Amino acid sequence: MYGTVRVSGAKNAALPCMAAALLTDEPVILENVPQVRDIETTRRLLSSMGAEVELGYGRAHHRTTICCRRLANSEASYELVKTMRASTLVLGPLVARMKSARVSLPGGCAIGARPINLHIMGLERLGAAIRQEHGYVEAGAERLRGAEIVFDKITVTGTEDIMMAAALAEGETVLENCAREPEVVDLANLLNKMGAHIDGAGSHQIRIQGVEKLHGARHRIIPDRIEAGTFVIAGAMCAGKLIVQNCEPNHLTALLLKLQQAGVRVEQGLDWVSIAGGAPLQALDVDTEEYPGFPTDMQAQYMALMTQAEGPSVIAENIFENRFMHTQELVRMGADIRIDGRRALVRGNTPLSAAAVLASDLRASASLVLAALVADGETIIDRVYHIDRGYERIEEKLRGAGAEIKRIGELFPHKASATQSA
Ligand code: EPZ
Repeated sequence: MYGTVRVSGAKNAALPCMAAALLTDEPVILENVPQVRDIETTRRLLSSMGAEVELGYGRAHHRTTICCRRLANSEASYELVKTMRASTLVLGPLVARMKSARVSLPGGCAIGARPINLHIMGLERLGAAIRQEHGYVEAGAERLRGAEIVFDKITVTGTEDIMMAAALAEGETVLENCAREPEVVDLANLLNKMGAHIDGAGSHQIRIQGVEKLHGARHRIIPDRIEAGTFVIAGAMCAGKLIVQNCEPNHLTALLLKLQQAGVRVEQGLDWVSIAGGAPLQALDVDTEEYPGFPTDMQAQYMALMTQAEGPSVIAENIFENRFMHTQELVRMGADIRIDGRRALVRGNTPLSAAAVLASDLRASASLVLAALVADGETIIDRVYHIDRGYERIEEKLRGAGAEIKRIGELFPHKASATQSA
């Protein structure tokens, strides 16, 4: 591939930032919001509560304005939560602003069990009364009170949810064992622009001095590090030179180091990474970890790369228990991969042969696109609605850099998209 691909705003930063608009009766303006389906789902979720949400694309530069002046209800229905589990991000803001919330429990999803017990524990510690029945969690509190909260396990949306709730609580909250993902920092930056007092986001400990009221703000969403990483791997797999523009290379450190060790030639500037692809690659093991470790959201794409590297590699998935759905499809394309519990054993250097394959979740779909780029013919990927949840017009971006890829519609009905992954 030759050319430049431009990275969109981070879906996983935009989702909590949209939920944060629930915390104020003034407009929140978000720029660089990606045009992906999860954002549209969040628009529907907020609108169902009475929020005015304007998604502006094209000339409006991906600017979204959300105004939650009057909220008619504080419920997130099963219909919406089942299609996008990040909907649970409204729980904390709703209790804090509306004094009560009723949010459907998300249940399991394609990549694992994914409970929300830590969101619930956090709200209980902030003084909310919690009831769970009929598949919903109901939380209520006249005013949340600051508390010391230790997360047993690092959770990204859990940290975000409780941080939003604590922003409007009375007194100080200290969160321990927090997620350090850049998306958590982006949300904290927005909240501080809205008048919150949050310190320490990006570290294990976050301190929040609650305030009575938050106001409107304007905020630019950070670049999507997972989209950028996916393009970087595309560049490493194909001959040529690919420039991944509009990204934040510092958010890609674990991936870029791994690729350099594997023999990929990488250069980087302030907001770009360039990859010279096509050189022989050395297979290297990887363990997924919380940020700043190697992201679980890049595991499927890295596996596609390792099918083309010299030698065997072991890919350990430590965050989710069932995130190897892409493996069977890669094997159908000729890869040699064995699953052993939470580890995938990849024997590299296998030529891939084009096939009809099924996408099972967002990042799994991305790995199939990558495999298809180097397969010997025409691959047809079905259920591509999964990829549209988190990648903005991926086929146009890759085509712009020389890939032969086009959208030919869906063979399966859209309603099958009830499987969740974000
Ligand atoms: C976020 O999901 C991302 N989603 C995911 O992105 C990402 O894969 C994941 O973090 C890990 O990096 C968004 O930001 C919207 P977690 P989240 O809570 O917050 C367990 C993508 O492809 N856990 O950090 O739901 C959980 O089961 C996606 O864009 C509990 O036990 O993930 C998992 O094993 C998919 N109890 C681990 O923690 C809880 O209450 C980490 O999950 C919460 C989580």
